[in-house]
Amino acid sequence: MVDLSVRIGDIELANPVMPASGTFSYEFADVIDLNRLGALVAKTVSREFRAGNPTPRMAETEAGIIQSIGLPGRGVEYFLDEMLPEYKRFTPPLVTSISARTPEDFVAMARDVSVPGVDVIEVNISCPTRDPSGGNYALHADNTSRVISGIRGATDKPVWAKLSPNAGDLVTIALAAQEAGADAVVVANTFLSLKINTDTFRPSLGNKFGGLVSPALKPIILRMVYQIAQEASIPIIGLGGVTKAEDVVEYMLAGASAVGVGYAAFRNPTALPAIIDDLERWCDERNIERVRDLTGAVRDDLETDTLVAAAAPVQTGALGASPPAEECPQ
Ligand SMILES: Cc1cc2nc3c(=O)[nH]c(=O)nc-3n(C[C@H](O)[C@H](O)[C@H](O)COP(=O)(O)O)c2cc1C
Repeated sequence: MVDLSVRIGDIELANPVMPASGTFSYEFADVIDLNRLGALVAKTVSREFRAGNPTPRMAETEAGIIQSIGLPGRGVEYFLDEMLPEYKRFTPPLVTSISARTPEDFVAMARDVSVPGVDVIEVNISCPTRDPSGGNYALHADNTSRVISGIRGATDKPVWAKLSPNAGDLVTIALAAQEAGADAVVVANTFLSLKINTDTFRPSLGNKFGGLVSPALKPIILRMVYQIAQEASIPIIGLGGVTKAEDVVEYMLAGASAVGVGYAAFRNPTALPAIIDDLERWCDERNIERVRDLTGAVRDDLETDTLVAAAAPVQTGALGASPPAEECPQ
């Protein structure tokens, strides 16, 4: 049977599948066995009590949802006193996600959550509806560097930097996070988006803009993971559009060491254990002994035979010579 365990720096996960921050809590234990998950990932916690954004906070689109929840929560003290003990009833490592509006408060938050029971600090510097200089630091390499290096100096816990797909050049941002001392990058948060209600002519969300979450985004994030893996040496957690075991395999082939799953669990709360079971079967059917061997195993030697055939000039015989290939408009 395949060994599903993977390592993210110093942290060992029993398998590479974990929930996405904000889409999961210990209450899922009512429907799934949380001990089956690779890690537990808590909703982003802020210092203060936050009511969240005005409603509506979610709107459906043809392919997924846009949401702007606004990081509601009861603050870091409540998290530490009431929620942390609930998470610690389960065996997988706990990833605690933090957010703040200033680099200084990020550092203070990292200190606050550096307590026994917290195994990893995920730094949410990529909330898409926040200001680039007020929490959405992952849009710029220098801001990313400033926040991550501050946190690195304040904690011995593993630090995962959650990047933003809205940054464009994620390789530069990932390298900035790596240089600043991040132990891994999570790729990625959601795409900034807009939906307009055609009856009212108003934005569908109370906050106007939201983050798009959709399986349709997986190829884009997969490409980002691949590009980062070519340049960065720290582990990558692929996050975006995973709905099945083959998506996990794709992310790992592209260079991810593990993946997160959010949206799929909204549609089916048992999605995560089902994906893990299927991944195990997928590997066993192919005699893959260690799932971690899939990381970065994509083959770049394209099977060009069919491409060559498709690009070959059409033989027009008696009607005249074929045009040279480079004149082909495609
Ligand atoms: C309702 C909702 C709430 C979210 N809240 C958070 C959050 O608190 N912190 C965070 O870092 N990401 C948050 N996210 C983003 C997810 O962690 C993840 O990046 C995104 O859903 C993409 O993964 P998926 O395609 O598997 O859903 C949230 C996403 C959704 C849909």
